[in-house]
Amino acid sequence: MAIERTLSIIKPDATARNITGKIIDKLESAGLRVIAQKRARWSKADAEAFYAVHKDRPFFGDLVAFMTSGPIVLQVLEGEGAVAKNREVMGATNPADAADGTIRKEFAENIERNSVHGSDSAENARGEIAQCFSEEEIVG
Ligand code: TYD
Repeated sequence: MAIERTLSIIKPDATARNITGKIIDKLESAGLRVIAQKRARWSKADAEAFYAVHKDRPFFGDLVAFMTSGPIVLQVLEGEGAVAKNREVMGATNPADAADGTIRKEFAENIERNSVHGSDSAENARGEIAQCFSEEEIVG
């Protein structure tokens, strides 16, 4: 399988509970390598741009409010089949449906406060990485 890169975000519910290390441990244990990482606080415009694909969904306003409510940790992850591997270790969007051992099963509070974001395709990963990181910030 090809070496890929994907965008990961540790969300405000997780930074608030000081569990970023526990989440990174799960990612690294799954074979993913953190090749870029920074802590940030998103503006409303940042969150609206990042989640533009969801702008007509009923949860959009609440999602933007949540993602701007506290610090986040943005990461580029690299590894074999990194997009699918990260989605697997994240677990289902709704923690009630997430498999045992996944990040969302263990740490998510509910479908909105679900601790992590991960790109859902290689194409979206390329766009999201370019949106969040400069080339110089990524050290593979
Ligand atoms: P989505 O892209 O469907 O899920 P994922 O994060 O697993 O790729 O949705 C993006 C985020 O929007 C999701 O992580 C949390 C939020 N969301 C809600 O708050 N309510 C919902 O009903 C859905 C589907 C998503």
